Amino acid sequence: MTKSIITIDDLSLSQINSIFDLADEFLEKGAWKVRGRRRSADQFILSTLFYEPSTRTRFSFESAMLRLGGHVISSADSASTSAAKGETIADTVRVMENYADIIVIRHPWEGAARVAAEFSDVPIINAGDGAHEHPTQTLCDLYTLRREKKKLKDLNVLLCGDLKNGRTVHSLVYALARFGADIHTRSAPGFGLPEHVRERLKNKYGFEPHEGDFDEIDAVYRAPDDQSNLFEVDLMLQQPSNRNRHERGRNIDACYVTRLQMERLEGGSTGQYPVVNGKFLKKKRYAKSSVLHPLPRVDELGYDMDRDPRGIYFKQASYGVPIRMALISALLELKTSLAVDPQWKPYDYEVYSSRSGLRCRGSRCITNHDAERRHLVPKFWLVADKPVTLRCVYCEHELKPLLVGGCDSKAFASSSDWKSVKRENRVFFFDEDNARSQGFHPRRRKLKLVSA
Ligand code: NCD
Repeated sequence: MTKSIITIDDLSLSQINSIFDLADEFLEKGAWKVRGRRRSADQFILSTLFYEPSTRTRFSFESAMLRLGGHVISSADSASTSAAKGETIADTVRVMENYADIIVIRHPWEGAARVAAEFSDVPIINAGDGAHEHPTQTLCDLYTLRREKKKLKDLNVLLCGDLKNGRTVHSLVYALARFGADIHTRSAPGFGLPEHVRERLKNKYGFEPHEGDFDEIDAVYRAPDDQSNLFEVDLMLQQPSNRNRHERGRNIDACYVTRLQMERLEGGSTGQYPVVNGKFLKKKRYAKSSVLHPLPRVDELGYDMDRDPRGIYFKQASYGVPIRMALISALLELKTSLAVDPQWKPYDYEVYSSRSGLRCRGSRCITNHDAERRHLVPKFWLVADKPVTLRCVYCEHELKPLLVGGCDSKAFASSSDWKSVKRENRVFFFDEDNARSQGFHPRRRKLKLVSA
């Protein structure tokens, strides 16, 4: 079966570790530095299909493939492909799979990489789909932590910035949760982890980050109105109770800093945005904190950190090459193949899919994209029973439908009765208006036959 990497959960912890071991080999032997030395990929072509800007991700994938002795065909800009003429992702990959042996895709729509994987016979790698996930950045992040901290288990990590729209953060929290980390968040107001991310953390891994620590911030910048206007406030010191809690906290092993995702803002101002700089990191608990950033940075990460040994973000970016060499080698089975891990079953849910009934409400979900909705049927995992909860397979936003109907009877009832409707007839609705607008009517109660 073709293995694609759409979310970080497509890799078990042992698969992640074997990619890291292979990256260590590439890095330590220095072989990856000498172009052409390794000819193992010389029969293969990698294609990068990028519909959004990129520096590190695209170039490091291309560099990795070239260093493996392979070949690259690339589109850095959707304007130069038939996407500009309205072609769907599904059609594009059905063509590209004949030209390349592995496809790396970045797209502003959530679920775009999954759609590509559904239509492709060659492995698809998600290089970022909207605000959803960016699993290979997480491999770089974790690998950096593994090299710096000599372990991945039980780390204490602080996530800073736009945790709502930052896809790197989403993939990272899922992985950190699986490695047993403790996570603290420090986001701009209104930019905390989205509900569906917190739900997935809670329901799948029984994990809850320590959120709402904005009061610990003592350095912020005003964004997005005037990003050059850096200023500082000391909110924490205004609240002594918080100061005590803050001082009592465990040492932070790593601060993961992210920029405001301006391209994904849906109106409104961000107000004050947290900054990580030497001043912020003065507190004792940060004395040994490594500072990571997926880059690019804007004003959220002080340039003073470039001279501070805790700032390791350029090293982190450099690991993009050995990590992606290892991933490509594994997916093309040039080196260690990704042995199936029978213990790891991340999507062990019943799938519900129907053309009628409700659709995903994710504003950037690929199923709501004008071109793709012509052919895509909404698809959900049934992740919980009480109340019935559907998670979109593409963008992972969750819905709690109130009603379930039967396509044969056109009758609806409470969604808690979903098991009483045959799977092939089952259709979920948000509410009564949603059901009635599609010609469904309330199910009549069965009359009790009482014998005389
Ligand atoms: C990130 C991305 O594209 O999500 N960049 C990257 O891949 N290194 C982070 C960002 O753009 O802020």
